[in-house]
Amino acid sequence: MTIILVNIKIHRNWAITSDGSHLMYVCLCTGVTDGQIRDAIFEGCCSYREVRQATGVASQCGKCACLAKQVVRETLTKVQSSQAAIPYPVEFNVA
Ligand code: FES
Repeated sequence: MTIILVNIKIHRNWAITSDGSHLMYVCLCTGVTDGQIRDAIFEGCCSYREVRQATGVASQCGKCACLAKQVVRETLTKVQSSQAAIPYPVEFNVA
């Protein structure tokens, strides 16, 4: 009998999609990526709580909560600063 031990370490949660772009798995428990979090915000989520409800990120072990909050915060800041650059407000609604 042969026992093979495989030790795989995940140093970064990065993956490459079929179109060559990079995405980062924020939540390994639920498989939520940074792109899914950004999409949730672009589709109308305005807070971490709403993103969590929409995507399920950080709904199991919770170890990804800090990173998920960081992605939400960065994306909301970008959206708000891009809205400030146009002369009229734009609302994001869920279709
Ligand atoms: S890694 Fe996100 S809930 Fe466990």
